[in-house]
Amino acid sequence: MYRDDFEILDDQLIYFDNGATTLKPRLLIEAVGDYYNHYSANAHRGDYDISLKVDEEFEKSRFRVSEFIGANHNEVIFTSNTTDALNKIVLGYFANYLDQDDEVLITTSEHASNVLPWFELAKNKGIKVSYIPLDGNHKVTLDNVKKSITRKTKVISLAHITNVIGDVRPMKEIIAFAHLNNILVIIDGAQSIPHMKIDVKDMDVDFLAFSAHKMCGPTGVGVLYGKYELLKQMKPLIVGGGMNGSFEANGEVLYNEPPHFYEAGTPNIAGVIGFGKVIEYLDKIGMDNIHNYELELRHYALEKLKEIPEIIIYNEKSESAIIAFNYKDVFAQDLAIYLNKYHICVRAGNHCAKILKDEINIKNTCRLSFYFYNTKEEIDKLIEVLKNPHLKDEII
Ligand code: ALA
Repeated sequence: MYRDDFEILDDQLIYFDNGATTLKPRLLIEAVGDYYNHYSANAHRGDYDISLKVDEEFEKSRFRVSEFIGANHNEVIFTSNTTDALNKIVLGYFANYLDQDDEVLITTSEHASNVLPWFELAKNKGIKVSYIPLDGNHKVTLDNVKKSITRKTKVISLAHITNVIGDVRPMKEIIAFAHLNNILVIIDGAQSIPHMKIDVKDMDVDFLAFSAHKMCGPTGVGVLYGKYELLKQMKPLIVGGGMNGSFEANGEVLYNEPPHFYEAGTPNIAGVIGFGKVIEYLDKIGMDNIHNYELELRHYALEKLKEIPEIIIYNEKSESAIIAFNYKDVFAQDLAIYLNKYHICVRAGNHCAKILKDEINIKNTCRLSFYFYNTKEEIDKLIEVLKNPHLKDEII
């Protein structure tokens, strides 16, 4: 679908590494170029035409993002990426909210960004990081969440879709149960927001983080959503221009309200404006269409991969655009290098989910992650190359 919108695809590139970052459509590059060529002033500072246009476009993007996830516009903070947003949530809100011995629940299949900030709080504040056990398919069940909660559990922080196993967590049910127990919930939406329709109000999630670059947007732009009453209690990790109304020599400061309170310094203006256009683009394609098409690709690829006896699949029972696999007796990275010879891009390694090895008993995997511009023909090419009887010889 929509392949003509991506100049990079003209080169017969087969790009299956969308979990790392997606390709960029022409309209993004045009929007970014338009800003730099025609109105490259700063945001929230000027009184002249091109600066006012920047403000208008920048805030338009905030409206588009907020509508896209069902939030109020003042609950959307622009960050540099998911990692930045999660750090702001954990270190800006939970560092103050949690006391020593309070507990956060995560899982062993989280990405580094949803583990390391908690480890920091464990080290500096003495909070406890506990892991919800996964089921036989490496999934989170509501039952296991219920069993994991203790008197000390104050927050549950989970990827909506994990970046290697690709399991879709039952977040709405988890959140409803958590709230009955006065537990707050954070969603790392890096791998879900680009692929499915999500409404933060319907889910009732407390905080959400995601990145623009995993959904056809620019690198260097992320989103932190938080319920406004929680954002009011968060502390900024960075202070400076753009987030204060006034300050005096005696140290008195009048700070702005959220979301600007958390956006100190000149932001990635071109990126934020471009991201707004990309959101419009995804809306036009339709998130349900994207989701359903990706599932079709997933099922197609799985059936074909299962025809190859040497292929080991680690997440057959997941329901997302991610397939984690290995080729028997071939090191994951060697396979990725082999596929690269055929212009097929996959990610290999631990994918920054470095404690997942405790769950799946293997450190490195190859990962296919699809997006709406991938095709069954591309999957056929992958399968053909994987069926090559001389595959191992070519690797050695
Ligand atoms: N989290 C990104 C990935 O899974 C970088 O590849």
